[in-house]
Amino acid sequence: MEKMRRSVTCGALRAEDNGKTITLNGWIHRKRDHGGISFINLRDRYGLTQVVVDADSSAELLATAAELKMEYCIAVEGVVRLRPDSMVNPEMPTGSIEVAAKKIEILTKSDTLPFVIDEKTNASEDLRLKYRYLDLRSGSMQEHLILRSKVAFATRQFLTDRGFLELETPTFIASTPEGARDYLVPSRLYPGKFYALPQSPQLYKQLLMVSGFDKYFQIARCYRDEDARGDRQPEFTQIDIEMSFVNREDVLSLIEGMMGYIFKETLKVDLPAKFTRIAYDDSIEWYGTDKPELRFDMKMQDGSFLAQCGSFQAFKDAIAAKGKIKALVVPGVAEKYSRKSIEELESTAKIYKAKGLAWMKVGGTDTAKTLEGGVSKFFEGQANLVCSTLGAKPGDLLLFVADPKAKIACTALGAVRTRLGKDLNLCAEGTFEFAWIVDFPMFEWNEDENKWDTAHHMFTWPQEQYHETLESDPGSVKGDLYDLVLNGYELASGSLRIHDPDLQKRIFKIVGFSEEEAQQNFGFLTDAFKFGAPPHGGIAPGLDRLVMLMAGETSIKEVIAFPKNSFAISPMDDCPHEVKQKQLDELHLIIKK
Ligand code: AMO
Ligand code: AMP
Repeated sequence: MEKMRRSVTCGALRAEDNGKTITLNGWIHRKRDHGGISFINLRDRYGLTQVVVDADSSAELLATAAELKMEYCIAVEGVVRLRPDSMVNPEMPTGSIEVAAKKIEILTKSDTLPFVIDEKTNASEDLRLKYRYLDLRSGSMQEHLILRSKVAFATRQFLTDRGFLELETPTFIASTPEGARDYLVPSRLYPGKFYALPQSPQLYKQLLMVSGFDKYFQIARCYRDEDARGDRQPEFTQIDIEMSFVNREDVLSLIEGMMGYIFKETLKVDLPAKFTRIAYDDSIEWYGTDKPELRFDMKMQDGSFLAQCGSFQAFKDAIAAKGKIKALVVPGVAEKYSRKSIEELESTAKIYKAKGLAWMKVGGTDTAKTLEGGVSKFFEGQANLVCSTLGAKPGDLLLFVADPKAKIACTALGAVRTRLGKDLNLCAEGTFEFAWIVDFPMFEWNEDENKWDTAHHMFTWPQEQYHETLESDPGSVKGDLYDLVLNGYELASGSLRIHDPDLQKRIFKIVGFSEEEAQQNFGFLTDAFKFGAPPHGGIAPGLDRLVMLMAGETSIKEVIAFPKNSFAISPMDDCPHEVKQKQLDELHLIIKK
């Protein structure tokens, strides 16, 4: 028998449809029975419509209605009618009407649900992931995935309109030593050989530039075998972009335009035409991180003068050891922060290796300020100097970290700043503060292995003025490298690339690749560069992080249809999973017990 097929969706009907006979298909979201009348909220991805089974309906209809339970999938034929005034629900787009059911067909029944489908479920994460297909029925998950689809579409529209080609690159590639651990796929045909899944399409997009596809993009799946966190998944998606014959400004302004377009098209939010640019060194000095939360200001300051003007030994020691004292003025919270709550902040500083968190409160009046509590006894008579140098007022809380290692002072107090932003609700929801972090160091010292590593990847162009001193002073070299940050997250990373095989070889050498190793791992790239490689550069915003931030979420799992849990497992299909001995044999693999 032909099933009753919908003539409209559950989000479509309005007062103008009064009197029409229609058919709806959907799921039973809620059902209430009131003295013989049944009210059914019927749901599909377009919305909810109230269906009413009146008390004087046919015996057959009443019997079917009595059978209905949550999440049954049904078809309803009925007549649209206006709700009585007292029943109009202005919160619901379909809230001025209801559908008086004439015929109901149960398309499929539902077992008892493991959790109620709702806007915000309090089911555990693993339960939600085990029944992800049910979790995805909730209003908020539907909105997130719809947003994700719109963001991907807007991205394609924007880039295609500007002459970019969407090109695919392989997902079975050679394993190359870069960044994270590779996921490997054993080869059946070549015993002992493996494909790797790409951590990003980096090398291939550069090769496409050599081939002359000067504007490339791909919404690309990337795979990294690293520990999952709120903003990381083992597989994730990048909006991968590469361009030839460009300078840094060309790449940055393309992305500014693209973000502006995406936010306008999907959220109707206007972004500024240009995003602030912050040098990496400044970002560390002011915020203690290269992904600052800029929805509030509260920059850290240099507190080195405190070593001279007081007698606090930890401050003097840090400066004597050529370290730093970092200071943070937290306006107006002196009263609010007890010794105990400051100790909680101190525990945050200590996670980042600070020896402590020194504090003082500013008291008195604007013209006669005083310093109180904490380390104030070491700064007697210095209230005016301290407050005028730091720009502090009565009622402010002053926080300090001093350390012989300048970077520790910055990152530890920076972490306290970030925490205060959350604790004090300084980050307004629905606001988006973008910034470019530029002028990153090209190399980082790897203490464990006693060698230089590249800060981003090995294909980043060192800024021109450092080319002569690459080998003699790697630590001071800045790369032509930029990150886009949004609300305290790294959203995108990119750089201008090396297109000169000799310069590329010098970089390999500095990070400790022998010529043979470099040839073995990246020979195809350096070989390609011998054939007229164009100057090029690119960037890759993470699509999952972008949609997560747009949706106001703090975990990318909330915007991925079928993510892995924090242990890289999918509880729904129990993946990863053992395979049959026959499969292992075909792949020439023996599992070590
Ligand atoms: P990078 O490694 O910085 O650069 O990655 C770029 C962006 O991808 C996102 N991202 C992730 N998202 C979710 N889970 C992960 N595990 C994860 N890792 C990265 C972030 C990040 O900013 N090939 C270069 C880009 C380039 O130079 O063009 C690259 O992959 O949003
Ligand atoms: P102490 O003199 O070690 O008892 O420390 C007094 C206060 O100074 C405590 O609140 C410590 O957390 C803080 N403190 C100690 N060392 C440092 C440091 N290097 N930087 C900032 N505060 C510190």
